[in-house]
Amino acid sequence: MRVFKVEGKYPLNGTIEVSGAKNSVVALIPAAILAGDVVVLENVPELSDVYALNTILNELNVQTTFENNTLTIDASNVRYKALIEGAVQELRASYYLMGAMLARYKEAIIGMPGGCYLGPRPIDLHLKGFQSLGAEVSIENGAYHLSAPNGLHGSKINLDIPSVGATINIMLAAVHATGITMIENAAKEPEIVDIATMLNNMGAKITGAGTDTIRINGVTTDAMHGCRHQVIPDRIEAGTYMVAAAIGVGEGMEVKVDNIIPEHMEAFLSKMEEAGVNMDVDLDSVTIRQSSPLQAVNVKTGVFPGFATDLQQPFTLLLTQANGASIITDTIYSARFKHVDELQRMGATIRNEASTGIVVGPSTLEGAKVTATDLRAGAAMVLAGLIAEGITEVHEIEHVERGYERIIKKLTNVGAKIWLEEI
Ligand code: EPZ
Repeated sequence: MRVFKVEGKYPLNGTIEVSGAKNSVVALIPAAILAGDVVVLENVPELSDVYALNTILNELNVQTTFENNTLTIDASNVRYKALIEGAVQELRASYYLMGAMLARYKEAIIGMPGGCYLGPRPIDLHLKGFQSLGAEVSIENGAYHLSAPNGLHGSKINLDIPSVGATINIMLAAVHATGITMIENAAKEPEIVDIATMLNNMGAKITGAGTDTIRINGVTTDAMHGCRHQVIPDRIEAGTYMVAAAIGVGEGMEVKVDNIIPEHMEAFLSKMEEAGVNMDVDLDSVTIRQSSPLQAVNVKTGVFPGFATDLQQPFTLLLTQANGASIITDTIYSARFKHVDELQRMGATIRNEASTGIVVGPSTLEGAKVTATDLRAGAAMVLAGLIAEGITEVHEIEHVERGYERIIKKLTNVGAKIWLEEI
C-alpha cells in the first residue's frame, strides 16, 4: 500500500507554482472530440483523472500525446463507442462524455461515473437538460443510455440549482443542437467560462458564460475546428497551498503562491484576511508571511463567487489553528465532513453537526495514521501533517493524486518533509 508520510514542524519558505485547473481540464478533454480535428491544451496538470480521460479518448480512436503539461488531442478519426466500464468508471467527470457524445453522435452509453463520495451526488439536472434538448434517457444495467434519433433542438432550460456539472454538460450537448439553447440559473464558476472560451475558439457560438444566463446558438459539426487553449490556474489547488502557507510559513520567511487569478478566489481571500492571515495579493500571486495569532471566523460555502466548497476542508484545518470558536457550513455538500473524524484523531477540537463543522482552536496536532477519505479531505490531512508533532501517515492517497499535481515535490520545494512510502 502506498502512503504519504509527513514529518511536521518544518517551516515553509519559497514559491509554489499552481497548476492548471483540474475541474476545467476534465471537461475540456471530452469537449475536444467536438472538433474532429487537433486540439492542443496547455497547462494541463499531470493527474490520474487526466490519464483516465486520455484512456477513454483512446477507446474512441482519438490519439493523445501528453508531454510537458501539453496535451495534444487528435480527434480526426474519432469513432462512436459505448463506454460502459473501465476508465469511464474511475472518475466522476466522465459524465462530460454524455454531453460531448450526445452532441457529436446523438447517442451515448456511459457507465455510472465514480469520483469522491461527498454525500448524494445526483445528476438529474444533467439528464433533464438532455431531455429538454430532445434526448431520450434511460438507465440500463448500471449505464446511462442517451439517444436523440431525430437530433437535438435548442431549448430553454432553467436549472433548479446552479450546478457546475449540469451547466457544462448541457452547454456541450447544445453546441450542435438546432436553434438556440438558453441555460438559466446557470453556474458561474470560472471553469465554465474556460470551457465556453475553448468551445468558441473551436467554432461554437456561446455567450453569457460566467453570468446566470448562457445562450448557445447551435452550429454544425463542420463549423468546428481545432484550437490551442491554455487552461486556467487551479483556484482550489491555489487555496490549498495558501492554507499550507498560512499555518506553516517560518518566522521571517514567506511563501508565494504563484500563477493564480486572485479574482477567482475573492471570497476565500477575504476569509483568509478576516482570519488574520498576513498576505499580499498581487496580480497573479499571493505572498503569505507569518501571521499574528489567527482568529476564528464563520464560513458558509456557496456557488461562485461564494466560498468554494472544495476549500471547506483545507480551511477547516486552518481554523483548528485559530483562536476561538468557528462555525463552517457547507451549503453545497452537507455530508462533506469526513475530515472531521480524521482531524479529531490528530487532536483537533472539532465536531460535525448536520452540515456544519464546529471548530475550537488553537489545537496542537499530533501525527497519526489518517485516511484521505476524499480528495480535499486528503489535502487537509497532508496539510495537518505539516504542522503536527511527529509523523503523520496518510492512507488512500489515490484520492489526493486525483487533484494535486506533484504535491510531494511542490511541498518539498518549500521546505516541507513529505515522502511517498510503500508499506
Ligand atoms: C463540481 O462538481 C466539481 N467537480 C466539484 O469538485 C465541486 O465540489 C462542485 O462542482 C461544486 O463546486 C468537477 O468539476 C469535476 P454541482 P459537480 O453539480 O459538478 C446538486 C473537487 O473536490 N446537484 O455543482 O458534481 C449536488 O448534489 C470536486 O474538485 C443535484 O442535485 O457539482 C450538489 O449538492 C468534488 N442534481 C450541488 O447540486 C444535479 O443534477 C452542486 O453540485 C447536479 C447537482
